[in-house]
Amino acid sequence: MAVDLLLGLQWGDEGKGKIVDVLTSKYNIIARFQGGPNAGHTLVFNGRKHVLHTIPSGIFHDNTTNLVGNGVVIDPVIFKKELDKLEEQHVDYRKSMLISRKAHIILPTHRLLDAASETAKGKAKIGSTLKGIGPTYMDKTGRNGLRVGDLELSDWKERYRALADKHESMISYYNVDIQYDLAELEKEFFEAIKVLKTLKFIDSEEYLYQAQKAGKTILAEGAQGSLLDIDFGTYPFVTSSNTTAAGACTGLGVSPSQIGDVFGIFKAYTTRVGSGPFPTELFDEDGATMSRVGQEFGATTGRPRRCGWLDLVALRYACQVNGVTQLMMMKGDVLSGFNTLKVCTAYNYKGETITHFPYNIEPENVKPIYTEFKGWKEDLTEMADANQLPKALNTYIEFLEKELEIPITIVSVGPDRKQTIFRNSK
Ligand code: IMP
Repeated sequence: MAVDLLLGLQWGDEGKGKIVDVLTSKYNIIARFQGGPNAGHTLVFNGRKHVLHTIPSGIFHDNTTNLVGNGVVIDPVIFKKELDKLEEQHVDYRKSMLISRKAHIILPTHRLLDAASETAKGKAKIGSTLKGIGPTYMDKTGRNGLRVGDLELSDWKERYRALADKHESMISYYNVDIQYDLAELEKEFFEAIKVLKTLKFIDSEEYLYQAQKAGKTILAEGAQGSLLDIDFGTYPFVTSSNTTAAGACTGLGVSPSQIGDVFGIFKAYTTRVGSGPFPTELFDEDGATMSRVGQEFGATTGRPRRCGWLDLVALRYACQVNGVTQLMMMKGDVLSGFNTLKVCTAYNYKGETITHFPYNIEPENVKPIYTEFKGWKEDLTEMADANQLPKALNTYIEFLEKELEIPITIVSVGPDRKQTIFRNSK
């Protein structure tokens, strides 16, 4: 069976967790392929909200296997907290969770290095979630990292010490005021490692190969969004992994020839958290309304998200880079009540009209060119069928489908699992 992918097409926070949860009943295995606890995947069902950071979003379904792939970076301390929450809700994660031996471990000193690097950057900071993501991936590509499989070796603590000592000298190199008590952080870390070691570590690429051969259905779950991709995102204001489709191949050990559907998730408008250019960002009442109605605050850091109109130039680029086969539009309900909606269909790039995503998208280089649409007043949150959607929303959706040449098969009208409308689905 082919492996389907689900990923975000903007700057993260598109609502991937909700859709994975909605689609999970169709899959035997849900596999996270990159990122780590910088992610915050929110799921709402039975009147309760659940936020997952590293654990795949299929975890609340019985009979689904949840794999943390080799491309993911794991902070044992945050992972343990997630497990504790699952335990409180009587979720039997032990039988359904597998962890790749090749996944890298976030050390307490990686988090400190993240903080030191951001502080040293001053105004030019990335706006990182400070979860140690960048420094951990640096150690991975620098060939110094500690992996989950290392925890099965007798000398892993010596390897840990050597790496943590090196990090301490790097922190002092930054020459910034970072206060920390490493002994305290390590106590918590070693406790959490003990819990991590009670879970099943596997050679996940072999597991997935055999699962495919046996006809199991697999959904690869992305984190962050395509515009935060280390190669194709708005560098340097990006995360440190490949969030795009190719990242699923390297982050799980799945061959490109085995990829099936690529589900691209996007919001009906745009948000961004952290620093970096954002051509359609709004600083007016419309942006404030999106923020308020959409409750646009980071699920991991609680930071307010910047809001703006939908950017089709960026969305088209993300669809191309990922080879998206189906689109899923989130938070259409947030746009109810606007008299006029705008969609950026081209950029004025240094005086020239362009429709591709250029190297520089800073405000001095790029001005968005908008097409306007009539808004709708209807509350969408109680709607359950595509026939109920207002005419003006259908016009908006059909315009996007035509421009992107990809069908929109799901329209989400609220955070709950049940607030999901299927249209034109295969
Ligand atoms: P880092 O991955 O924590 O180093 O953060 C790098 C950039 O990516 C920052 O602008 C973050 O705000 C952003 N970022 C990281 N993870 C997420 C996410 O899950 N959603 C939205 N933005 C994210």
